Order: sequence, then C-alpha cells, then structure tokens
Amino acid sequence: MNNMTTPENPSSSDLVADWQTLHRVFIRPEDEKSRKTLIKYMEQILFGLHEFLNTHVGVTEAIPLATLAQSYSDTTISREPEKKLAEIIQDIINQIAPRAVNVASPYFIGHMTSAIPFFMVHLKAITAALNQNLIKLETSKVLSVLEKQVLAKIHRMIYNLGQAFYDTHVQNADTCLGLFTNGGTTANITALWVARNQSLPEIDGFSDVEQDGMTAAMKAHGLERLVVLVSERGHYSLKKAGGILGIGSRNVISVGVNASHQIDMTDLTRQVEAFEQDRKTRIAAIVGIAGATETGSIDPLPEMARLCRKHGIHFHVDAAWGGPVMLSEKYAGLLNGIKEADSVTIDCHKQFYMPMSAGMVFFKNPNALDRIIYHAGYVNRKGSVDLGIKTLEGSREASSLILDSALKIMGSQGYALMIEHGIDTARGFAEKIRKRERFQLITAPVLNILTYRAVPRELKHHVNAAATPEQRRAVDACLNKINTDLQRIQREAGKSFVSRTCLKIHPKDNHTAVVLRSVIMNPYTDDRILNQILDEQEMILQSPEISKHMVSLS
Ligand SMILES: Cc1ncc(COP(=O)(O)O)c(C=O)c1O
Repeated sequence: MNNMTTPENPSSSDLVADWQTLHRVFIRPEDEKSRKTLIKYMEQILFGLHEFLNTHVGVTEAIPLATLAQSYSDTTISREPEKKLAEIIQDIINQIAPRAVNVASPYFIGHMTSAIPFFMVHLKAITAALNQNLIKLETSKVLSVLEKQVLAKIHRMIYNLGQAFYDTHVQNADTCLGLFTNGGTTANITALWVARNQSLPEIDGFSDVEQDGMTAAMKAHGLERLVVLVSERGHYSLKKAGGILGIGSRNVISVGVNASHQIDMTDLTRQVEAFEQDRKTRIAAIVGIAGATETGSIDPLPEMARLCRKHGIHFHVDAAWGGPVMLSEKYAGLLNGIKEADSVTIDCHKQFYMPMSAGMVFFKNPNALDRIIYHAGYVNRKGSVDLGIKTLEGSREASSLILDSALKIMGSQGYALMIEHGIDTARGFAEKIRKRERFQLITAPVLNILTYRAVPRELKHHVNAAATPEQRRAVDACLNKINTDLQRIQREAGKSFVSRTCLKIHPKDNHTAVVLRSVIMNPYTDDRILNQILDEQEMILQSPEISKHMVSLS
C-alpha cells in the first residue's frame, strides 16, 4: 500500500499493508515531494489517457471476449498489496483503455454514449474529491441548495412557469421541482412510482398504496388491473418500472406506431376509451417519448397531452435522450407539448454530455413527490429538508455540481451548437445513405438518430419486387443475416462502430427486420468520417462472409 512512493521506486514485491502506510494514503500530502507525486499521477491520468484517446481513433482493440475473459478469471484477493498507484494507472492506460471501447472516437456512432468535453473529467474529479452525499444536508450542505437551483433551471427550461413560480420554489424546503437520479431508468421508475400512487389515492377505509401495498389498494378501489400505455418504441426501463411497482411489466402496454415510429393516436385513443369503460382497469399513466432509443422519433406530445387532460391521466414524457434539444432555438420546436407533461425524464449522461452516470426527473406540480416521502431516524427525519426524503436512491453523488458547472462553461448556446451539429450531420448522413445504391434508409432522423440497412446490388430488385408480407419476410430473412454479419465484422475490425436493432419496416408486416442504427453526437464526426464508415461497410458487403448469405435468393 506504498502509494506515496514515487513511480520510479523499484519493485512492488516489498509493498506491505501496515498502519503507517494506511495513514499516508488517507492524509493529504504534507511535503513538497508527496504533492509532486500526486500531481504526477493526475498528469498521468489526464494526459496518458487523453493521448491514448487521441491516437487510437479506432473504437477498440480486436481481441475476442473469450480471450479477455480468460485473463480476468483469478478470483483471489491478495493479502499483501500488489501494486503502487503509479503502476495501477499505467496498467489501466496500457491494458484496460485499449481494450475498453473508445466511445470518444468520432467513428463510434452506434450508441448514446459518446465523447464528453474534456472539462468533465476535471469536474468529475472534483466531485470525487469533495465526496459529498446528497442524501442529507449533514453530508452535503451547500450542494443540496445548489442541487435545488440546478433542478429549477432545467424545470424552467421545460415548463417556463414564470419568475414568481421559480422564486417561490427554487429553495422551498416543502416543495420539490425534480430530482437527480442515477440515470433515465431510475428517473422513469420514479415518475411512474408517483403516477401509480396518484392513481390509487386514499378513499374510505383505505389510506395509502405505498404503505398497504397493491393488493389492498386494488381491492379498495375495486380494480383488477392498473396499466401504463406507451408506444412500441418505449424504453424497456418502463417495463422494469411496471415490474418493480407491482403493476406488472405486461401491463405496460405497447401501443402501435405510425410509419414515422410515433405513437398511433387512433390506436391510443381507442385503447384509452376502452379502458375507461372497463371499470376494473385504471390507467396509471400515458408515456410520450421525446427521442426514442432506437429511432430518435418524437411522439405527438400536444395531442397526447390533450388526451391525458381529457381523461385525467398522468402524462409522463421520457425525454431521456431528447430533453436537451430544448436548449437549441433552432430545434426546440420539435419538443412542443413537453411543457404539458406532468413529469419529464432527462438524462445527464446523454445529450448533456456528462460522464456516467446521472439523470433527472421533473414534476410540474411541486408537491407531486410528496407521494413517495420516506423518513429514517438517523437521516431524512420528519420535517427535514434533506433531498433524500424523496429519492429512490439512497446515497447520491453531487451530479448537480457537474451539470451546473457545465451549463456555466458552455452556456445554452454551447449545448445548442453540439445538438445542432448532431441533428444536421445526421440529416446529411441520411442523404448519403439515400444516394448510395447499396443502402436503404429505414428511418430518417428527426433528431440525431437514424436507421438504415445494407442491401447488396444483387438483392435490390428482390426488395423492390416484394409485394406481400410473405415475400418481404423472405427477403428480410436474407438481409437480416447480411446486416447482422456486416455489423459484427465492422465492430470486430475495431475502427468504426454502428449498432443494430430490429424494427418493423413495413406497417403491414408482423415481422421485424435487422437495421443498422447510428447516433451522431460527437462534434468531430463529420461527412468525411461518415463516408469512410459507409465505404468500409460496402467493402465488407463484398466479402465472402456476406456473399454466402445471398445464395438462397439470387
Ligand atoms: C428514451 C430512453 N429512456 C430511458 C433510458 C434509460 O436510461 P439509462 O440508461 O440512463 O438508465 C434510455 C437509455 O438509452 C432511453 O433512450
């Protein structure tokens, strides 16, 4: 545990865990030598890793998972210290970083995880150094106050309820405009938790679903079923919420989508009216999506809000992905209607470009979270203003400090530039795909996500000629193999990365087809890189591994 020794120190074999060295790793460095050593470590982290990310433009080292797994199968904990901090850092730079995924690469356009501004690393280091716990004031003090302020800023971005409203609530200990969470999943669970409790309120002889549970609540309300409605494109965290909250994941019902992958309002209205007539079923919430995970599509939020208002149903908008688009004057209109939502999820580690992991959930009604208050004797006592009273998580880090600082460093204009670059570049990418003979654009980007698939020249006429669901199923079966292998081969080559998913391509079909999915949020991803990615895919298409799949149709 000789962590204060300099990196130049010889072997690790004489490292011992004793009381003296234990003290040294806990106290702050007192002398000049120790300070220099610590600064050197920070340099190693900041520049060693940064150099790696700059030089390895590719995505990851081509090494099979099975080989990796073999090198990580020792399950013993060594009694004596094995390495000094400097060695550990060097090992991470040399052995972990190249085999991790370089999500900062501009060629990495497959997922919602991407490059982050460099200052985020500094901000993350600060939150670790302060190590505040936002569960209670006693371990966070000013950060609890700051958290309320940042949440109010984002609440204002969404709802813009006027100066007087924010003056009243920004630091009001009795109300809460939102919460920082671990991510979009816990944000969605929290929103549906509140919605569930609102939809099963206290009535004669029954006080509280939170305390008495679902069986008692359903019996008291004369219900057999509680449901949540969301389009087929809903994130699977909503199903998890259904399971956890006792609603049942099957009762998170998928509503059909139109050709643009937005919720089908006719189908939704029909289902709502049917459930309203069935006195044994109650709708806990309807969820609108503002930036669907697979397609980036945005539901018709104003129409959904009207339907929810008409029937008195909680309207939740999952804007985990799309929320920050509101900072762009150019594209904010895409999220029109979001201010009608009762609750909204926004992820920080997505388009707020923060490091893993942080999300937020907001409530229009500043008292909505009163439905899930919990107290404990040692923290969050009755009458306390601790933020942990109303959070699903217990201990939480000071993510608000990172978001607040980032908003100050970037300004809304800085974020707008990144968001607009993503959307504009994705639209340009869609044009390139349309123009290339060997590709078929499946979903055009509304935001910065699009899907497409490769269609070898030899199969183009089969795609065009397929007129019935059966014919399309046969062509898609062949194209599925081609696109699955294409995506795998490109990923394994390690230079570029697009992801893949399955979507129903033709509205009349019952089957889904494999599509390639691209998410463009790295400011360095440009036309040249996108062309290279398509060129590489065209090359792979001509390989024997792909041609073998064409035999059955051609
Ligand atoms: C629309 C949407 N909602 C929720 C989530 C879940 O967020 P997280 O992974 O932060 O839990 C995601 C993640 O991709 C998402 O795209």
